[in-house]
Amino acid sequence: MTKVITYGTYDLLHYGHKRLLERARALGDYLIVGITSDDYDRTRGKINAAQPLMERIESVKALGIADEIIVEEYEGQKIDDIRRLKVDIFTVGSDWIGCFDYLREYCQVVYLPRTDGISSSDLRTERRMLKLGIYGIGSVADKYEAECAFVNGVQFIGKCGNDEDYAALLSKCDAVYIQSHPNEHVRHIRQALEAGRHVLCESPIALSRNDCNELFSLATTKKLVLMDAIKTAYSTAYNRMLLLIKSGAIGKIMSVDATCTSLMPPYSSIEELAMRWNARQAWAPAALLAVLQVLGCDYEFCDVSSFYAPGTVDFDIFSKYDFRYKSAVATVKVGKGVKSEGDLVISGTKGYIYVPAPWWKTDYFESRYENPVENKRYFYQLLGEGIRNELVVFARSIAGSASAYIRQTESGIISELMSCGCDRRKGN
Ligand code: CTP
Repeated sequence: MTKVITYGTYDLLHYGHKRLLERARALGDYLIVGITSDDYDRTRGKINAAQPLMERIESVKALGIADEIIVEEYEGQKIDDIRRLKVDIFTVGSDWIGCFDYLREYCQVVYLPRTDGISSSDLRTERRMLKLGIYGIGSVADKYEAECAFVNGVQFIGKCGNDEDYAALLSKCDAVYIQSHPNEHVRHIRQALEAGRHVLCESPIALSRNDCNELFSLATTKKLVLMDAIKTAYSTAYNRMLLLIKSGAIGKIMSVDATCTSLMPPYSSIEELAMRWNARQAWAPAALLAVLQVLGCDYEFCDVSSFYAPGTVDFDIFSKYDFRYKSAVATVKVGKGVKSEGDLVISGTKGYIYVPAPWWKTDYFESRYENPVENKRYFYQLLGEGIRNELVVFARSIAGSASAYIRQTESGIISELMSCGCDRRKGN
C-alpha cells in the first residue's frame, strides 16, 4: 500500500484544495491530510485564517477524499509524521516548490501544479474589503500603513496629517485609524463616527472618562466599531501571559509593576513641546492596561505623582501611578525624557512573571519560582509589533466575528487617568 501525505491550512475550502487532494489521493492508495492548528499557523505568520481548526477539519472531512486527518502543530512535525506513519510520498502544491526537498531523505517528494485563479487569501479578501484611511503622519502611522498589506480584506486608502484633508479622507474610507495628538482625539473620533466610519484610535481615546463614554455611546448608536489601539494588547505573548496568570500559575496576584520610558529629542520652545505626547499620553495606556487586565478595574484608589517639563503645567516628563486594590497593589512608571528599565513584573503567592524590556513589545516572558528548576520560558512570534493582529481583530469586529481586546471600562479608566488632576480618583 502506498501512503501519501499532504499538509495545508484549508481555510474556506475551495476548488484548488479539492483538486490538490484528488491528485494527491491518486498518487497512492491511502491519503493522510495534515491540517495546521490555529496556533501553529500563528507562529508561522499566518494570522488571517477565517475558520478555526475544527471547521477546517470538518470541511476537508466532508469532501470524502482523505483517509485520515491529522493536525500539524509544530515546526519539523512533517519528519516525525512521515517516519511514524510510514509515509511513501509527500506532496504539496507547486507554490511550495523546493521548500520541502529536505524530506527526500525520508520519502518521495512530489510538487503538484497549483490551480490558477483561486486561493484562500482571495476568498478572504472578497468576503470583507475594508477601506482604511489613516489620520496621522510619522513612523507609527507608516507602520499601520505597511501592516495593511499583511491583513486580508483591509485596503489602505490614504493618509492625511491635517484637518483640511480629513473630511475628504473620511469620504473615501469605511474605517479610519487615528494617530493625531491626544488633545484632538475626541474631535477626530466624533467627526469620523458622525460620518459613519468605524474608528481605531491610538489610546487614550479621550482625556476624560465622560468624553470616552460619550464616544462609545455615539459608536453604539451609529452601530459602528470604536476600538482603542494599544498594540501590546494584541500580541500573542501578552495574551498568553494573561491566561497563564488567570489559570493560577503564579498563585494569587499581589502586585503588578510596569515601567515604560523613552528619551526625547531636544525642543526649542514650549510650543514645540506641546505638539508632542507627554509621558502619560505616550506610555501610560499600555502600562495601565496591563494593571487593569491583571488586577481588574475595581481598584480602591490611585495616587499619581507627576513631574513636569520646566515652564509647563501639563507636559509630564515622568509620572508614577500607585494603585491600591483590596488585596493587591500596582505601580506604573512612565517617562518621556527619562530613562528606566522597561520591564513588567507580576508577583504572586507561588511565583512571578518577568517580562524583560521592552515589555510592551512582548514576545517573550518567564514564569519564575523559588526553585529555579520550575522556571519556564515562553516565546511567541510578534508580528508587526502586534499591529497586524490588531488590524485583523478590528476588521473582524466590524464584520461581527470578533470583539476588541480592550473593554470600554478599561478604555474609560485609561482616559480618566490621563488628566493632570486625576490624583486619588476612585475606580468603579
Ligand atoms: N493549493 C492549490 N491550488 C490553489 C490553492 C492551494 O493546489 N489554488 C494547494 C496548496 O499548494 C497546498 C494546499 O492546496 O498544497 C493547501 O493550501 P493552503 O495554503 O491551505 O491554501 P491557499 O489557498 O494557498 O491559502 P492562502 O491563500 O492562505 O495561502
